[in-house]
Amino acid sequence: MIICVLGSGGREHSLCKSISLSSKVKKIYCIPGNAGTDELAKNVNINLDNFEKILKFLKDYKVDLVIIGPEKPLVDGIVDFLEKNNIKVFGPRKIPSQLEGSKIFTKNICKNYNIPTSKFGIFENIENAINYLKNVNFPIVVKADGLASGKGVYISNNFDEAKLAVKEIFGGKFGIAKNILIEEFIKGEEMSFFIISDGKSFKIFKTAQDHKRVYEGDEGKNTGGMGAYSPSGLINEELEKKIINKIILPTLKAIEDMGEKYKGFLYAGLMISNNEPYLIEYNVRMGDPECQTILPLLKNDLIDVLIACCDEKLENQVLQWKEEKSLCVVLCSNGYPEKYKKNIEIKNLNNLSLDKNDYIFHAGTKKENGLILSNGGRVLNFVCLSTSYKKARERILDLINKLNWNNGFYRKDIGFKVIDK
Ligand code: AMP
Ligand code: GLY
Repeated sequence: MIICVLGSGGREHSLCKSISLSSKVKKIYCIPGNAGTDELAKNVNINLDNFEKILKFLKDYKVDLVIIGPEKPLVDGIVDFLEKNNIKVFGPRKIPSQLEGSKIFTKNICKNYNIPTSKFGIFENIENAINYLKNVNFPIVVKADGLASGKGVYISNNFDEAKLAVKEIFGGKFGIAKNILIEEFIKGEEMSFFIISDGKSFKIFKTAQDHKRVYEGDEGKNTGGMGAYSPSGLINEELEKKIINKIILPTLKAIEDMGEKYKGFLYAGLMISNNEPYLIEYNVRMGDPECQTILPLLKNDLIDVLIACCDEKLENQVLQWKEEKSLCVVLCSNGYPEKYKKNIEIKNLNNLSLDKNDYIFHAGTKKENGLILSNGGRVLNFVCLSTSYKKARERILDLINKLNWNNGFYRKDIGFKVIDK
């Protein structure tokens, strides 16, 4: 088969890696890809907003299956567009993708289907939002409605902070804002819960926990993710049942009631408080870096699973997982998530000798004149599978030390909740 992966991050490199292990795969393309995907796939430089050009490429190169990595093309309807043009594609259509594309869409589903989430209000203008804030308990969470690349969420500790958040969102910081969401702050521990669904049935696709804050001890600004581990230390049979029955099933039912089907990965961002799950947000794709952390644990041929999903035959697949723990540390450019330099050479990568349980996935990298250069804030993802999170982390820190990239920084405490307790 000829496969094409859309995206350019660590998530897409790990997808290419798993796909490359399938004996059914003859050729992989990645649009646009990075220096890591370049080793496994042929990178093709097309803008992900240009659906017509992507379609022409897929037809010209006789691609059998397209896998969509990031959220933006999904929310913009790439799946509907490609399906109309008879291309086999893995990912949810435009309407179900609103689960990520509009926080208000999701909150309304929560309200109508009784899904546990924080109490919320939706406001159409600054005055109403600010009036509401005069009578709430702090901290409170103020959110822009649409896609904001992980930004657009303010945890405000007092009235003045919340007022500023409302003004920034309505001021257009995250695009035109018709509405704003203000919700109660839930105390607890976060967990990422993944399923894969074919519209008829679904399978659990493991759990993970990521570290979004830039500094050790989960301090500092939010980032795209500084590291992750799988499985989450919080998951147990009882909690899993609650997540499925109270959150996943009612959501899939809501999508069905709209006359739609949910096909693809669904990522529930949960807050766990006293072994009770609350939905914080949905993403309609795999997480990054959770994907890189989880995929190396999958024993199945990923292509079999994805094809079964496209053909609505997922029920026949039995997902099998390795017993090991998986941990991922993200190596970032100095200065991230604020200003950072690009185009800094990463030497030594080829000198690192990796064992079968070690993986290095590229995120913000590119190849130029045979050199590997940094090309983003999150640059490389080091993943290791081991009998314990501690051993996995030690191995990764050893590899990062050996790489000795002096433009980079990383968190040495990834997994502290499951390692240091
Ligand atoms: P989101 O983009 O909705 O996932 O929000 C980004 C981050 O803000 C989440 O990962 C949480 O850490 C935090 N957050 C969002 N909503 C809430 C909430 N209602 N209570 C507590 N923390 C929240
Ligand atoms: N790791 C967070 C995300 O993928 O949205």
